[in-house]
Order: sequence, then C-alpha cells, then structure tokens
Amino acid sequence: MSVEEDLEDVKNLCELCDKCSLAQSRTNIVFSGGVPNSKLMLIGEAPGYYEDQQGEPFVGKAGQLLDKIFASVGLSRKKDVYICNTLKCRPPNNRDPYPEEKAACRAFLDAQIEILKPRIILLCGKVALSSMINTTSGITRLRGQWFDGPFGSKMMPIFHPSYLLRNDSREKGSPKWLMWQDIQAVKKAYDELS
Ligand code: URA
Repeated sequence: MSVEEDLEDVKNLCELCDKCSLAQSRTNIVFSGGVPNSKLMLIGEAPGYYEDQQGEPFVGKAGQLLDKIFASVGLSRKKDVYICNTLKCRPPNNRDPYPEEKAACRAFLDAQIEILKPRIILLCGKVALSSMINTTSGITRLRGQWFDGPFGSKMMPIFHPSYLLRNDSREKGSPKWLMWQDIQAVKKAYDELS
C-alpha cells in the first residue's frame, strides 16, 4: 500500500473516532493538509472555527500567515509540506486542548508520523512542542533549536502564527524577526536533505 492509501485508512478511522467529547461538537475532523509524501511535516495545535467548518488545517488568519511564512522561503503546502495538528477536532471556543483529549488523539498523530516518516518536523506552538518534547521549557526558549525526533527525523519548535498575529513588530529580536530566522534555517535543512 502507498503512503497515501495508508494515511487514508487512518483518516477513515479518525472520522469514526468518539474517544473524547470533542467528537460531539465537531463539524468535521481536520486530519491533514498539504502533500502526503512530504519530507517536511508541520504539527500545529488544533482546528479552529474555519478549520472545523472546512475540514482543512490552517485555513483561517493564522493559516494565511503560515502560508506567507513558507512562501517567503519558496516553500508551499501544495508541493512541500504535510500539515496536521495535535488534535483532529476543534476544542470549543478554541480553548487549549485538555490532556485527556491529547491522549485520546495521540494514536492518530503517531500513525501520521510513522506512515510519512518525515525528515523534518516543525512543532508549531506550545501544544505541539509539549506533545513531542518532554520538557518544562517553553516555546520562547526552545524555538529555533533542533531536536532528535522519531524515525531519525529532526524537529524544530517554532512560534505559532496566532502568536505572531498578536505581536506585529518586525524589529530585530521580535517574534516575527525570530520566525524569519527559523524559517530560513528550516529551508536550509530542507535543501540539504538528500
Ligand atoms: N491553529 C492550529 O494550530 N491549527 C489549525 O489548523 C488552525 C489554527
């Protein structure tokens, strides 16, 4: 079976999932977006209103900024990046995911990683960071650093675009400026993949 078919099987299981209460309030599961055969995976937090409506990750304002960030180094979700979230269902009012929701959803994320075996994983925001790296340090401390990830991958925590939307400065040292440094490092590593 191909990567696409394996992912489709997991998506079909996810559609039926009722392991946590978010199953009752979701409009759609948001399983993934972008290219299934990519060497680069981005893990976000959880679907918001528009994602829940459309069944696609990162389609709201934060997603539009994410697309611009990728485009600034010539990357795009159409050809380079597989995008998914820690949670596949929207938490009401976009609250932070509860630990039991993360635990219930974890098998889907693990399956996505195992099937895709990405070479680079971007941990977008604090929820993805704490799901994948066992640490008490926060995103501000760890962003831009490389960590060993599953299946020989490299993982980098990066700021969440929603955070950048709330912090508009582009001055040296600002969150946007730091994101620009990080995405350039990601592009360099992506270009160096054999
Ligand atoms: N924020 C996320 O973390 N994921 C989405 O899909 C949308 C907004």
